[in-house]
Amino acid sequence: MSKFLRGLIIAACGALISVPALAAGDAANGEKVFKKCVACHAVGEGARNKVGPHLNDVFGRVAGGLEDFKYSKAMLAAGEAGLVWDEATMAEYFASPRTMIKGTRMAFAGLKKESEIVDVLAYLAGYSEAAASDQPAEQSSAGPAQETAEAASVAPAPPTSSTRDGGVFGLGRVATAEEIAAWDIDVRPDGKGLPPGKGTVADGEPIYAEQCAFCHGDFGEGAGRWPVLAGGHDTLADERPEKTIGSYWPYLSTVYDYIRRAMPYGNARSLSDDDVYALTAYMLYLNDIVDDEDFELSNENFTEIRLPNEENFIPDGRAEEPHFAADREPCMKDCKPGTAEIVMRARILDVTPGDADDGGAGVGAVD
Ligand code: HEC
Ligand code: HEC
Repeated sequence: MSKFLRGLIIAACGALISVPALAAGDAANGEKVFKKCVACHAVGEGARNKVGPHLNDVFGRVAGGLEDFKYSKAMLAAGEAGLVWDEATMAEYFASPRTMIKGTRMAFAGLKKESEIVDVLAYLAGYSEAAASDQPAEQSSAGPAQETAEAASVAPAPPTSSTRDGGVFGLGRVATAEEIAAWDIDVRPDGKGLPPGKGTVADGEPIYAEQCAFCHGDFGEGAGRWPVLAGGHDTLADERPEKTIGSYWPYLSTVYDYIRRAMPYGNARSLSDDDVYALTAYMLYLNDIVDDEDFELSNENFTEIRLPNEENFIPDGRAEEPHFAADREPCMKDCKPGTAEIVMRARILDVTPGDADDGGAGVGAVD
């Protein structure tokens, strides 16, 4: 890679990450870390391009170098400027893709721990010819790398604010208040659980374009077979209804909760609360529920917004219906008058097509 670009990258990343040693990585752990990547990347025999390029022989690949993958302009430019993937450049990229390559289409916030980075590099190296032959040379750059390896192998300190009482089974420990707070993020239709924050349609648009559109389409129409997020009005009675936020979902709280909890796919929980407000506002805009780009959604005005299909969802009132409300003891014995009689057998009722033994018997035939 050119010295110039390298200098830029290092300046951009500051002292964020020292060069890790490939030898220090644990490929088995790396396979687990790679779970964060599999939504978008395949590696190994028969690996094909998915949302992201396949990663076989990525070591030594010029950035953006696969012929049959449509890279961002930013990635192609980095390749033209001389960026080649090796452990140092990938370590920088994985730590913060968008810091290193502004405008990259890889919607991934980055791996926070250096140990994750070295491990995933070791895993990827197993699928790269170039990495296998490079390895001895790596030893020469052992200085700072060695420190990284040591730092990475130190086990994290056990949490201090918890007790180790082990409960009935003598296992685990009591969750800390912080752990419970991190887990307890559900939002209810009445607004309970919403974090303070705000965001406008206009704030949401660039986040959507960068992190969501390549799966969900520029207008929420869904790219390929990824889910559709907008449109589908008046299709609910059709044979193939298009169920979107605008056409089907009853409550905006589900939109907020879903995005916050699960999106972007493959990098869940990477968005700030304000980003989620902005994206939720943008969903309203894509679904024609608001039409002003300056519309700002916040925890204050959230419950004022109603989705068009809300009224078609009715409370489950069965307990109050006369039949159920009669409050009878359920019948457990001799419930049907007369002698019980077998009228059909489950074998035949089964939806799986029967074999010759069934005699092609139709549903309802008595065996
Ligand atoms: C949400 C999808 C997504 C996730 C998750 C993701 N990537 Fe990517 N990745 C991409 C896309 C898209 C590109 C192409 C980027 C561009 O063109 O700017 C890319 C590019 C790359 C490249 C450059 C390859 C080349 O041919 O130039 C590498 C290496 C890479 N990703 C590794 C990883 C690793 C390792 C992880 C997990 C720690 C990961 N990615 C997570 C989508 C993703
Ligand atoms: C790598 C592809 C990908 C990316 C990027 C992505 N999504 Fe998704 N999204 C999915 C998939 C797959 C589902 C369906 C998941 C399921 O059903 O389990 C989904 C579901 C959703 C849904 C629920 C749709 C429905 O009707 O069930 C919403 C809302 C959503 N995504 C919003 C977003 C937002 C906002 C972003 C950007 C911050 C984003 N997604 C980024 C793949 C993606």
